[in-house]
Amino acid sequence: MSELILIAAVIILLVAGLQAAMFLMKGWLQFSGQREANDLKLAILNERLQFAAMTRNAEQKVLDHGWSGLRKFKIAKKIPEGGSISSFYFVPHDGKPLPPFQPGQYLTFSLKVEGHQRPVVRCYSLSDSALQRDYYRASVKRVSPSGAASGHFHDNLEEGDIVDVKAPSGSFYLDMSEHSPVVLIGGGVGITPVLSMLKSIVDAGSKREVWFLYGVRNRQEHIMFDELRQIDADNENVRLHICYSSPLESDNKGEDFHHDERVSVDLLKRLLPSNNYDYYMCGPSAMMSSITKELNQWGVPDNRVHIEAFGPASVKAQKQPAPEQVKDVKEPEFEVTFARSGKTVVWTNAIGSLLDLAEDNGIQLDSGCRAGSCGTCVTALKSGEVNYIDDHSGEPEVGTCLACVAAPSSTLVLDA
Ligand SMILES: Cc1cc2nc3c(=O)[nH]c(=O)nc-3n(C[C@H](O)[C@H](O)[C@H](O)COP(=O)(O)OP(=O)(O)OC[C@H]3O[C@@H](n4cnc5c(N)ncnc54)[C@H](O)[C@@H]3O)c2cc1C
Ligand code: FES
Repeated sequence: MSELILIAAVIILLVAGLQAAMFLMKGWLQFSGQREANDLKLAILNERLQFAAMTRNAEQKVLDHGWSGLRKFKIAKKIPEGGSISSFYFVPHDGKPLPPFQPGQYLTFSLKVEGHQRPVVRCYSLSDSALQRDYYRASVKRVSPSGAASGHFHDNLEEGDIVDVKAPSGSFYLDMSEHSPVVLIGGGVGITPVLSMLKSIVDAGSKREVWFLYGVRNRQEHIMFDELRQIDADNENVRLHICYSSPLESDNKGEDFHHDERVSVDLLKRLLPSNNYDYYMCGPSAMMSSITKELNQWGVPDNRVHIEAFGPASVKAQKQPAPEQVKDVKEPEFEVTFARSGKTVVWTNAIGSLLDLAEDNGIQLDSGCRAGSCGTCVTALKSGEVNYIDDHSGEPEVGTCLACVAAPSSTLVLDA
């Protein structure tokens, strides 16, 4: 009997132990499953957090530094300024904030112009203060007789119209963290980037010494008249000097303008207490080359002279290189391979730049100024050498070229 009781007790204990083990096993399985699920959830959450952080960073970068590619802007205002120049005020079509820019930089527009199969890409300097964050302003001069982009701006674009714009760019800008005295020189419509510099300095409340020289023919071409006058009156650190090269009889010296001569280093020598300034200049190429040369002769170091060139795009593109500019070219023809497009074509002098060659053969290269200044067309050289057939203000990195102003000087393979 006692044996039976013992066996029954052992069986009961075994069953209970088994149940307990099963219970523990189930719990452990549930726990480890839960842990795996939790781990998975954590991993997903981490990934999401990382992604959100990356997106936030990217968005912040865009907010801080611009945007990539084209962004739609609405023309909020179009104001005739006189002298065949109109100012256009652009606001983002998506209503999102405007990224800041450096005073002196420009916008690149990609315009759909009637009669042009491909978008017409042109650059226009930002002409208002960099501290003004409600709109971007560009002031466009109608180029006669048939400027594609400027004509389109003047004749076809009105308030409410939408345009495609690349983010502000350009290496010609004023370092706002510096306080060294500056001379800002604008000739004709070349006033736009230096006006942005002037307005940014005064809007920042900076007491930086500024000499602002603006050269035009006469009062008819003198834009931003009241704006400049007001800045001059309100800021004792600003010295405004207006030069008319051909004043009209109705123009009043002392009232409308200060000097009946062109802006020149001779004038600067009469005005400035010394040559110890940073010089920022934009205007007709003849004016800029003579002033640059004479500043150099006056002992101003090259690194203190900053220039912006507004090259007429299509003329530059269609211009044939002068024989002396290509004297280093050993052969009249070179094979050019556009590696990514899988095309090999022959370049001759008559074609012009590598950008022209690409476009003639249906190969799309990005371009902006088409004048060697915006850097949009920079293209990697896989092999071969190039010559520059036009002046270019930006120096491309080794192993690359500015396709809009470069021509081959050997057989060439481009990463395009
Ligand atoms: C960095 C930068 C900033 C700039 N900022 C400004 C600015 O603030 N304001 C401004 O007004 N401009 C500015 N420009 C100049 C602007 O980008 C354009 O070059 C200018 O408006 C002319 O472009 P377009 O399309 O109107 O003329 P295009 O069509 O390029 O023609 C230019 C000229 O060449 C003539 N032409 C065209 N085709 C031929 C041909 N086959 N044979 C002979 N002549 C021809 C045209 O009649 C015109 O006179 C800037 C340029 C750069 C590079
Ligand atoms: S298109 Fe601007 S540098 Fe070539």
